Amino acid sequence: MHVASMRELVDILRAERHLESSSYKALLECDNESVVAYLHEQAREVAQGVFGRGIFVRGLVELTNVCHNDCYYCGIRKSNSNVERYILTTEQVLQSCQQGYELGFRTFVLQGGELPRDKAQWLVELVSEIRQRWSDCAITLSLGEWPREVYEALKHAGADRYLLRHESHNAEHYAKLHPADMSLTNRLQCLTWLKELGYQVGTGIMVGSPWQSLDNIMEDIEFIEQFKPQMIGLGPFVPQHDTPFGKSATGSAALTCKLYSIFRLMFPNALIPSTTAINTIDTNGRIKGIMAGANVVMPNLSPASVRSNYALYDGKAITNAEAAEGIAQLETQLATIGYHIDWSRGDFNQCKINN
Ligand code: 5AD
Repeated sequence: MHVASMRELVDILRAERHLESSSYKALLECDNESVVAYLHEQAREVAQGVFGRGIFVRGLVELTNVCHNDCYYCGIRKSNSNVERYILTTEQVLQSCQQGYELGFRTFVLQGGELPRDKAQWLVELVSEIRQRWSDCAITLSLGEWPREVYEALKHAGADRYLLRHESHNAEHYAKLHPADMSLTNRLQCLTWLKELGYQVGTGIMVGSPWQSLDNIMEDIEFIEQFKPQMIGLGPFVPQHDTPFGKSATGSAALTCKLYSIFRLMFPNALIPSTTAINTIDTNGRIKGIMAGANVVMPNLSPASVRSNYALYDGKAITNAEAAEGIAQLETQLATIGYHIDWSRGDFNQCKINN
């Protein structure tokens, strides 16, 4: 397709927030620099129309690397015997939140592997304690698949948001990434429950996961288009050496950024993080993500002693601007592109579309 018509696709996507399947594919395949730059520029403009030049920050607390799942891509899968397992104590979590609160964070993200089901009550009490101590903060959970009742109890305890990437909307591809006891159907059921329960819901994929085709990504785009999540989490796949995919190819930062832009144009007010994974494979990845339309970053608030044990993939950036202590560095980095941290809670509904 000609450069002019490719630009037109970007214009149509911006105006209509939707493209035909073949046009998404054309954009994903396009490596013409000026078209890609135009796509990013349009997405950035749309993001600025909604959020200005503010970037929301979320304090990430890596609650546990204990997981009963065995996802082939993930460094904390249960059959990786080289992981020193931990579950933070209630006290450690509260201390991390306290430290985060003092730094200015108003969203805490509790992320972790899938704990044994008998830990549900502890999770509910933990959320309830955080809710009581910091009533002005948003609580986001990213703790995998649970029965509906548990999601409901966590919501009642005070959780506001839930992140659960669908990982792939193609059942065959999903089955290549996960063992037989996990299913796309259950994943999607969980996402539906979370929405019904009134959570702000995030979903998404790893870009360049093994066997992922562009057609698979188009299916993911179509799913996200109809599911309309409030948050969209995308990062490149990064191999972890102790997993079955340890020697697979790393995902592409450029394709990840294209997807940030496409989703920004589809959903002007979505919360789209420029993820740790993109910053891991490209030292300037986080900034590139923001320049492509992402508007959230998630610095790490976990106790320093456990950070190296939460290795979902190799080379994960755990210090400097990735860590909450590196906030000053993050501010400086953002300032170089004319952006700043927006310290508000940054709820989905708080943002007005005025583009
Ligand atoms: N590379 C990139 N992302 C990964 N995740 C898990 N393992 C990897 C990996 N090897 C992502 C998954 C999960 C999120 C918490 O981390 O998409 O949903």
